[in-house]
Amino acid sequence: MEITSSSCNKSKILVFGGTGYLGKHVVRASALFGHPTFVFVRPPTPQMPPSSLRLRGEFRSLGVTLVQGELEEHEKMVSVLKQVDIVISVLPVSAYHDQIKIIDAIIAAGNIARFLPSEFGCDEDRITPLPPFEACLEKKKEIRRLVEASTIPYTFVSANCCAAYFINLLLHPHDPRLDIVVYGTGEAKAVLNWEQDVAKYTIKVANDPRTRNRVVIYRPPGNIISQNELISSWEKKTGRKFEKVCVQEDELIKLSQSLPSPDNIAVSILHSVFVKGDLMSFDLDEDDLEASCLYPEIEYTTIDQLLDIFLVDPPEPACTALE
Ligand SMILES: NC(=O)c1ccc[n+]([C@@H]2O[C@H](COP(=O)([O-])OP(=O)(O)OC[C@H]3O[C@@H](n4cnc5c(N)ncnc54)[C@H](OP(=O)(O)O)[C@@H]3O)[C@@H](O)[C@H]2O)c1
Repeated sequence: MEITSSSCNKSKILVFGGTGYLGKHVVRASALFGHPTFVFVRPPTPQMPPSSLRLRGEFRSLGVTLVQGELEEHEKMVSVLKQVDIVISVLPVSAYHDQIKIIDAIIAAGNIARFLPSEFGCDEDRITPLPPFEACLEKKKEIRRLVEASTIPYTFVSANCCAAYFINLLLHPHDPRLDIVVYGTGEAKAVLNWEQDVAKYTIKVANDPRTRNRVVIYRPPGNIISQNELISSWEKKTGRKFEKVCVQEDELIKLSQSLPSPDNIAVSILHSVFVKGDLMSFDLDEDDLEASCLYPEIEYTTIDQLLDIFLVDPPEPACTALE
């Protein structure tokens, strides 16, 4: 299969996992920024939901090229990779290990200017969460170490929390209740970035010579917020008062030990982000790369602005797993 070359001189971007919860935003941002964009998708199945078919149609209407294949098809992947410049993986946790196949194909193709493996969470080399989440991060670390040891130019993206995902989880605007659960004291600071902004930063990062072989942390000042601040802001905007139901740290630790997977992972993530405040547990110094400093031209959506969006047109809750 031949990818038609575009007349523009923008880098060509291939996305793995581009039909997923986060991946679709990355694909849209890539097309929005004018990059010839390609998505490696598995062939459709009879079980595929209509929403996935609609998304594929939307991509085609944006001029995005869908390349059907499986990660096991090494030769096919190599031939596609030879026709693009940048590879972004937004594959889910269940497919992290399969990224080794992408790495092998990138090495065989030999022309990829930048690879972003699927990370899009905390900087896994800087935090030590509870065991179920730690095991999950070990999978990401394994890919990090493989990429670092290869000759592939890379960027590791620490996008912190996807804001719409977590706002839906914490405030459940689609299913208003009288109470809101608070993890720990509610005081720990977290970083919530809107998925659309995560995607825009990611396309910028992938094309930026400054970010070659570096970690980039997405920590815009307007997106640093504690649970208590988030709830209080939501109360002001909705004009409602919620009863806070506290889940203490020791209870979360016990749940992380007793619940089956993936619920134990979800609980461990909540503990890491909202009880320990892991995302904000380290200061950034002049050696760190932070997205909103690198790209001040991107007007990111602050949590305050995002809550306004939730008030009038709340983004749908995610079906994707919290891992
Ligand atoms: N920080 C946060 O708050 C946050 C939130 C959500 C996700 N994330 C991160 O974002 C990344 C992507 O997660 P996601 O939830 O967006 O993924 P997802 O929606 O579960 O899946 C993404 C896509 O991957 C493809 N895929 C799934 N399983 C596959 C397999 N076994 N082999 C090949 N392709 C497969 C599917 O596309 P096709 O069927 O079209 O091939 C799917 O649409 C992960 O690193 C995750 O940790 C972070």
